[in-house]
Amino acid sequence: MDGRYVIHGGRPLRGEVAVSGSKNAALYALAAALLTADPVTLRNVPEIADIGEMAEILRALGAEVVIDGERVDVQAAELTSSQAPDDLVTKLRASFLVMGPLLGRTGEAECAAPGGDVIGSRPLDVHFAGFRALGAEVGRRGANWHAAARPLRGARIFFDYPSVLGTVNVLFAAVLAEGHTTIVNAAPEPEVAMAAALLAQMGARISGHGTPMLEVEGVARLHGADFEVIADRLEAGTYLLAGAATRGDVGVTNAVPGHMDSVISKLRELGMRVETGDGLGIRAACVEAPRALQVQAVPYPGFPTDLHPQMAAALTQASGVSLVHERVYDNRTLYISELRKLGARIITGGESVIIEGSTPLFGAHVRALDIRAGASLVVAGLAAEGQTTIHDIDHLDRGYAHLEARLASLGAEVERLP
Ligand code: EPU
Repeated sequence: MDGRYVIHGGRPLRGEVAVSGSKNAALYALAAALLTADPVTLRNVPEIADIGEMAEILRALGAEVVIDGERVDVQAAELTSSQAPDDLVTKLRASFLVMGPLLGRTGEAECAAPGGDVIGSRPLDVHFAGFRALGAEVGRRGANWHAAARPLRGARIFFDYPSVLGTVNVLFAAVLAEGHTTIVNAAPEPEVAMAAALLAQMGARISGHGTPMLEVEGVARLHGADFEVIADRLEAGTYLLAGAATRGDVGVTNAVPGHMDSVISKLRELGMRVETGDGLGIRAACVEAPRALQVQAVPYPGFPTDLHPQMAAALTQASGVSLVHERVYDNRTLYISELRKLGARIITGGESVIIEGSTPLFGAHVRALDIRAGASLVVAGLAAEGQTTIHDIDHLDRGYAHLEARLASLGAEVERLP
């Protein structure tokens, strides 16, 4: 249900919080379950709207999906359709990930152009180049994309760009293809590596995951698995940056430091004391006034574009002139107009965002325009004096489970209203 958050900001966040399983990795895992007729159990799946939408898409293809809190059971004993339903696909970008498994299992796949956040032009050429290299015919069927395997055979594939979903989709198609596939310039994101680890548990023969060079030896069939989704590094980063913006002391107990080097490094550059360790996760405490910095949002292991808006919000509280250079998306900066309503001194000239701080922020009415833009308003609202009302929080519901409860456990005053 669409609603709003009312935040009474201006106080430091303090305490510890545990984050959910990764939204994006869980979506990849759900699509992976289409590759086998056996049951797949996924644990630590975040309780967010996108998971329910993806489950609906799997059901429309013939899979049984049972969601029980953070556990999801999928069985795609038989796929009854090779076409994902348009109305669901246009809501969710990850829905396009059914293409690879459908191609691998049924030899055919059809899908509308997927939806998702309006943060850039977001082409799909990497997916198609990969499918074609494996021997599929790809083209339009009306407004939809259609692919047919004739059959799929392993190949050496070079990606023009290390697309995250492109890597996962082509990997899905390659695991059941005949022979050996090498993907050069694959995305090394932890979520992609996790998808490969799940496929390996299902019987796929893959090496090189977590690196830009993936090797796959095709197998005839995959079997079931019982698998735990990794912690969400973007949710963790959002709480840590909220701690920085409010000059607080926040620990994310299950954050994986090895997935967050760029974030840890930038928190230290801001002036935070950061501690990491087993059982500790990541803890970042403000020990001196935050200092301005420069950051580039680039593919992993660089600083994540999905934390760019939250970082920009935190930098409004750092003294000096900061620069965020966005190098992944061409339309990531919609959040800027909303931050300005709170009093931020922030401007953009295309890819570069310049923030002048430290600036006092004051509560106002703002709109969450996409998931991460919404998260940046939460960070800013927590730092602002007075009452901030964030409208259109259905975007936040797509990616952040139990947001108000988790913030409350850190001492924030956040209320959700219908
Ligand atoms: N790109 C191409 N050609 C392609 C595909 C992508 O040029 O064929 C370009 C895009 O134009 C874009 C850049 O590559 O500028 C990044 O796109 P990518 O394909 O890597 O992104 P994605 O796979 O569509 C996933 C996440 C995004 C996250 C990006 C980058 C999911 C469902 N989405 O998208 O997550 O920003 O990787 O890390 O996993 C979010 O969680 O809020 C979110 C938007």
